Amino acid sequence: MKNEYALITGASSGIGLEIAKRLASDGYNLILTARRSELLNNLSKEIVDKFGVKVSSISKDLSNENAPKEIYDFCSSNNFNVSILVNNAGYGIKTSFHETSIEDEEKFIRVLGTSVIMLTKLFIPDMIAQGGGKVMIVSSVASFAAPSAIQPLYGPIKTFMNRFSDSLNMNYKHKGITSTSLCPGFTVTGFHTASGVQDEMDRVPKFMVFSAERIANEGVDAMHAGKSYCVPTKTYKFLVFLLKNIPQSVFNLLGKSLAPGRYDKK
Ligand SMILES: NC(=O)c1ccc[n+]([C@@H]2O[C@H](COP(=O)([O-])OP(=O)(O)OC[C@H]3O[C@@H](n4cnc5c(N)ncnc54)[C@H](OP(=O)(O)O)[C@@H]3O)[C@@H](O)[C@H]2O)c1
Repeated sequence: MKNEYALITGASSGIGLEIAKRLASDGYNLILTARRSELLNNLSKEIVDKFGVKVSSISKDLSNENAPKEIYDFCSSNNFNVSILVNNAGYGIKTSFHETSIEDEEKFIRVLGTSVIMLTKLFIPDMIAQGGGKVMIVSSVASFAAPSAIQPLYGPIKTFMNRFSDSLNMNYKHKGITSTSLCPGFTVTGFHTASGVQDEMDRVPKFMVFSAERIANEGVDAMHAGKSYCVPTKTYKFLVFLLKNIPQSVFNLLGKSLAPGRYDKK
């Protein structure tokens, strides 16, 4: 067993939970965080029983601006040496942009964007002191696709996170720190129910939908190998290849026909 810790945000379900299980099976101790504390406690016990690693959990809402520092303080006061940081927590907003409150958009940006930057900023100095570390940012195929898949901010924030991950690699690779942007396509998780778009997810053809376990395993393999990007499955590698190589005008048309319910028709 390693004396290293992996911190995973959004570890109470879906891709984050599967990443946690995979890292436990690789011998890492875990710090799990999300909002649902009872669920985190139960999952922690299950992981300890199954994999024999140490697991701690801390319930935090990442839309609260103090949460990243409180998570960092929890880790440092317990002397958890975090060598892997997985920024995974996320959701989508179904409501049209003109109908959401500014507060809802700010919370969204904080959970998917600012908290990722803050957690990374807090943990990187310790990784440098330890001689290296790994960061993973769970992005999305939406980062390469026409904006407005799910809603206007989701894709752009994921693109921003990809660029942030690129710059981490540029700045810290020589210090032994790599950042991997994991870009899944449709994955079976709690995401679509939590984001109010489960009916749309149910209409996605089966060949385009993959399990969270598969996405997590491909992502963790890429992270261990120090890869900058991981687009899991051949299906989505091909789709991303097309998205990167077709003109923007075709790209926008495709976006409208592939995600029809997500455009405001009022
Ligand atoms: N599912 C897909 O098709 C898909 C595709 C591409 C990318 N992704 C990305 O994958 C990541 C994981 O999503 P998932 O599909 O695994 O969905 P999920 O099953 O709904 O998991 C989302 C996780 O984020 C946590 N979370 C949500 N809001 C939070 C907040 N305010 N503070 C702290 N934690 C919060 C949730 O925990 P609590 O509710 O307990 O807080 C949960 O553990 C997201 O970044 C998502 O954008 C998903």
